[in-house]
Amino acid sequence: MSIHIEAKKGEIAETVLMPGDPLRAQWIAETFLENVFCYNKIRGMLGYTGIYKGKRISVQGSGMGIPSAMIYYHELINEYGVKNIIRVGTAGSYQKDIKLRDIVLAMAASTTSGINNSRFINADYSPTANFDLLLNASNYAKQNGIKIKAGNVLSADEFYDDNPAAYKLWAKYGVLCVEMEASGLYTIAAKYNVRALAILTISDSLVTGEQTSSYERETSFNEMVEIALNIA
Ligand code: HPA
Repeated sequence: MSIHIEAKKGEIAETVLMPGDPLRAQWIAETFLENVFCYNKIRGMLGYTGIYKGKRISVQGSGMGIPSAMIYYHELINEYGVKNIIRVGTAGSYQKDIKLRDIVLAMAASTTSGINNSRFINADYSPTANFDLLLNASNYAKQNGIKIKAGNVLSADEFYDDNPAAYKLWAKYGVLCVEMEASGLYTIAAKYNVRALAILTISDSLVTGEQTSSYERETSFNEMVEIALNIA
């Protein structure tokens, strides 16, 4: 048992899928895994282990934002020996050609968080995806007719920005979309030498103001989860 996860040693698989929403973790476990059991209910941050195509996989909610998610990443890696963390989440598009329901592989994650500029004083660290997971995700998508985009994303510390036009600078420098966890995930995965990838589904667009319906979110979530389950 760690501070925020009550699983016993050995109850969590080496590969963990991590949505922000704990109820999404429950939905993924119940929809895609067999022989599922729930190993965590502390703070309602549900975690499950089950079997997918004969392999043990866990699914764990991370909460929203880098500080919450990094607590779970840290404990999964250091207390439970997790080796592959695949974030499955939603993101807001920053580009005209990144449309609702598109799937984005985060090759790198810029951030407005202070986690790395307080670590690397007067220098910029570039948190990046694990290349094997990225390549496997790209190959799996291609082989299964799932369209993906890949590039730099922004992990923002605030969902409600003071300046709604602030996204345009990031967009100009090629950032594809905004979410709130990937940069923390890639940083801690590098620190402890484990593999990480964030796969994102576009749920809204800062360019057009459009949003997906909950039905649309569910169906596009399926393809993203399918990629995540097949790459580690
Ligand atoms: N901002 C931050 N995170 C998000 C967004 C957004 O607009 N959409 C989905 N996740």
